[in-house]
Amino acid sequence: MSKPLKIAIAGLGTVGAGTVKLLHEQRELILRRAGRAIQVTAVSARDKSKDRGVDLSGMRWFDDPVALANEADADVVVELIGGADGAARRTVEAALAKARHVVTANKALLAHHGTTLARAAEAKGLTLAFEASVAGGIPIVKALREGLAGNRITRLYGILNGTCNYILTTMRKTGRAFGDVLTEAQKLGYAEADPSFDIDGIDAAHKLAVLTSLAFGRAVDFAGVHVEGIRHVSALDIEYAAELGYRIKLLGIARQTDHGIEQRVHPCMVPLETPIAHVEGVFNAVVAEGDFVGQTVFEGRGAGAGPTASAVVSDLIDIARGRSTATFGVPAGDLASEPTAAMERHVGPYYVRFMVVDQPGVVADIAAALRDERVSLEAVLQRARSPDEGVPLVLTTHNAEEAAMRRAISRIETLKSVIEPPRMIRIESL
Ligand code: NAP
Ligand code: HSE
Repeated sequence: MSKPLKIAIAGLGTVGAGTVKLLHEQRELILRRAGRAIQVTAVSARDKSKDRGVDLSGMRWFDDPVALANEADADVVVELIGGADGAARRTVEAALAKARHVVTANKALLAHHGTTLARAAEAKGLTLAFEASVAGGIPIVKALREGLAGNRITRLYGILNGTCNYILTTMRKTGRAFGDVLTEAQKLGYAEADPSFDIDGIDAAHKLAVLTSLAFGRAVDFAGVHVEGIRHVSALDIEYAAELGYRIKLLGIARQTDHGIEQRVHPCMVPLETPIAHVEGVFNAVVAEGDFVGQTVFEGRGAGAGPTASAVVSDLIDIARGRSTATFGVPAGDLASEPTAAMERHVGPYYVRFMVVDQPGVVADIAAALRDERVSLEAVLQRARSPDEGVPLVLTTHNAEEAAMRRAISRIETLKSVIEPPRMIRIESL
């Protein structure tokens, strides 16, 4: 039997403790699949006294994760701290400098520094593995980098944030308030340390930037992602979506357009008859479309200790077996760097909800602003609730250019009869 693969784990929170637990409980199975034992020799976190529900005996403790990366007796450093910079980045850089392989679940780090870190790893013949960074337990990194490597990917989209999907699903099914459901998602270990990363779409954008690089062979371009979160999705919009035959999902979408590759994260109205509309709770799903394979659909739990540890351990088994590929599928120096297509050029149908004073001429004024921007209406819904209050007026459009929609909405929101900021949600043709 070969000598064990020695690993040092920096970060013992939801994912770190989950990884220690999985490695312990599945020891026999991992031994057979990896061809050798995977042994945790050292760990690091901030608070040594915290009970993490796992046995850390025999593991050297480090208060400082960078010291762990430099000094631990380890072939691999597993970074499970989080954050684009700070301790996580210093730990990964120190590990690579010390010629240790790195496994990370940190999509923020990869979105901001992925190409640079990949170059550093590849220059030394080291692995920088990150299966756990996107879509939790779904093996989408390997699927894109290896399983679909013979295809030109034309479009990729998915539910990439478990917290948001959990919130949107629970609000729809139970009518509970946004903040209340978010607190529950935090307790379940789904949310980021700063949950605004989840609900403002940033976490999904980090993941989309990583997937776009893998799927389209481009340098990671997080700055190019158009990002909107779910804070403004209201119970009313969720109800209207159902009435119109849609479900609201926060999607990350990357696709080839005539103007370059589009990367966007925002709430979408997805048709009820599509599979992604039925991906609920903490589940994620990724759909990748390739020129030879056609459509492929991947679904699984996108957050939480077990699913994420499952992905971390798959990377460790690859390293133990000596399986390695270029970090993003092609050598980091060969990743293309053309700019992402501007969101203003996006074309698609839209849902817009206005709160208006229920008086003659309102619809005509709104329709005129849309007509002037050559936006064609598909449907109009208005239900009066009370003559004294504002009433919702809902429109859906045929395909329109984003820039034209924004100009029309800016003009409409200045009308006296429009009493709240309009809410616009893109309808996604899937
Ligand atoms: P977490 O529960 O907040 O755990 C973070 C760990 O890092 C804790 O053990 C903490 O120590 C330690 N830590 C934080 N700052 C540190 C510092 N400056 N120096 C040393 N140690 C520090 O986070 P998590 O949910 O496990 O997430 C870890 C990583 O996995 C993140 O990149 C996250 O985005 C990613 N991820 C998470 C999930 C999920 O479902 N949670 C899924 C996929 C990917 P203490 O425990 O002592 O405070
Ligand atoms: N906070 C993330 C989510 C964790 O909710 O999807 C998984 O990356």
